[in-house]
Amino acid sequence: MPAAARSCVLAPDIEEQLCLLVRERTGIRILDHQMDTLRRTVADGLSRFGHGDAADYLAALRAARASSPEHEHLIAGITVGESYFFRDQAQMAWLREQWLPRLIAQRRAENNLSLRVWSAGSSDGQELYSVAMLLAEQLPDLERWNLHLLGTDINPEALARALRGRYSDWSLRATPEAARTRHFRQEKNRAWSVSAALRGHVHFAYLNLSEDSFPSMLSETNALDLILCRNVFIYFDPAIVAEVMRKFHACLVPGGHLLLGASDLIDSGTLDGFSLHNLDNAFTLQSHARAPSAVEPAAVEPARADERAQPKTPPQAVSVSQPAPSATTTAATTSYEGITRLLGREAWREALEATADRQMRGDDSALLRQFRAKALANLGRAREALEACDASLALDSGDKHSHFLRALILLELHRLPAAEESLRRTLFLDRNFVEAHYQLGLLQMRRGAQQGGLKSMKNALAIAERAQPDRRLHDAAGRDHERMAAILRHELRMYEPDGGDRR
Ligand SMILES: C[S@@+](CC[C@H](N)C(=O)[O-])C[C@H]1O[C@@H](n2cnc3c(N)ncnc32)[C@H](O)[C@@H]1O
Repeated sequence: MPAAARSCVLAPDIEEQLCLLVRERTGIRILDHQMDTLRRTVADGLSRFGHGDAADYLAALRAARASSPEHEHLIAGITVGESYFFRDQAQMAWLREQWLPRLIAQRRAENNLSLRVWSAGSSDGQELYSVAMLLAEQLPDLERWNLHLLGTDINPEALARALRGRYSDWSLRATPEAARTRHFRQEKNRAWSVSAALRGHVHFAYLNLSEDSFPSMLSETNALDLILCRNVFIYFDPAIVAEVMRKFHACLVPGGHLLLGASDLIDSGTLDGFSLHNLDNAFTLQSHARAPSAVEPAAVEPARADERAQPKTPPQAVSVSQPAPSATTTAATTSYEGITRLLGREAWREALEATADRQMRGDDSALLRQFRAKALANLGRAREALEACDASLALDSGDKHSHFLRALILLELHRLPAAEESLRRTLFLDRNFVEAHYQLGLLQMRRGAQQGGLKSMKNALAIAERAQPDRRLHDAAGRDHERMAAILRHELRMYEPDGGDRR
């Protein structure tokens, strides 16, 4: 929306209903001081989409999908995405001087050159690129590392800008000279472009923090070392903040850190599972195991009965920072149904113990090994997970879920060609496997095959749109085909901002 857009007068009931609609669909609460922004956004929307008056506009919003251009325009207008590189100096100094050197040394000692970071509410990408620059500073052998640097936002326009990586002088106002010289190139119009090398290390995706499920291997929000979610909670209801905090905890490895913004006030009740560390003028939250009673009920539905005769749960959600509840592996939990339930409620350690118990009693089925692979992957033990998955496939090479799980594990290990092969096998077994088309698209783009990647994502969208909207996906926590289609439309708009109307 242009900065100079005019405001318009809205009837109080229209304002109220607009606020309600935004809150329902995004969790964003519009405060009194943001009402002018809302009015300006509506004024711009009225002329841009040709609606006669605000009531028409509201009706169109109500009728439209959450991924419609009207809806996206409204969200982009009211979520002020102001951000800049190296924004919070105290946190950046802590990352540079303490957290990164410590973690890098530890990972080198473990011979595990991997690191996983999520910028949640990444806006135009400055926050994630800043972390990528810190990593480039500290890793002379950067190319040997398996870096997973993910930025997500609800605003597809911001995501498209993040992907392009082009910024004004103003965005670089706190950028150290050395980083400016090394990672940016100034264009003729004076804009600054992030180097292709740095852009190659980051990945951006659409994710609504108040609606989408995480942690999930599918959105790569699992087994994280660091989450930055700064200046985002200001938009949310306290109840949504509490829920997001619970899910962030589940995304982090034990000892992983969460960085919030200085003005992101949170209720102390939401700090369960975190310890607070004060920095100069800032703080960080470190995850530790929660009390067993905090284990949450199922976030994921068990697989549908039509999938197979035996119970089976899809490989989707991940939480390696969950507590280790005293695993009372009873007959109930070690049955296939019991293990499916444990996986369904993300009790990975218990599920793993239950599979070990069955193995000790002589069970060696392909499905049991698949369960084991899934639990291990979700606990961040990717190499062991791959072994278990391969063992499962050795017994049953025709199981599409095992091939898909294998692809996700290989992606985590950054073995891209092998991951692509597993995705293609999944699709050979089931060409309507939406998540496999989606992952293949992301992977192809990551490997520089932009056109092929877009084609795969469009295939995924076509399948998701054809399916019954509320039908659950095989392998994505809590997502149905309608939600997947909405996410795909958002992401396609991010990759092809001028690619035409996809509703
Ligand atoms: C002020 S910016 C913060 C950018 C960056 N984190 C920083 O601190 O510099 C807030 C961002 O949160 C995003 N946001 C708001 N509600 C969101 C939601 N429900 N899910 C995901 N992102 C959201 C907005 O689109 C916006 O880009």
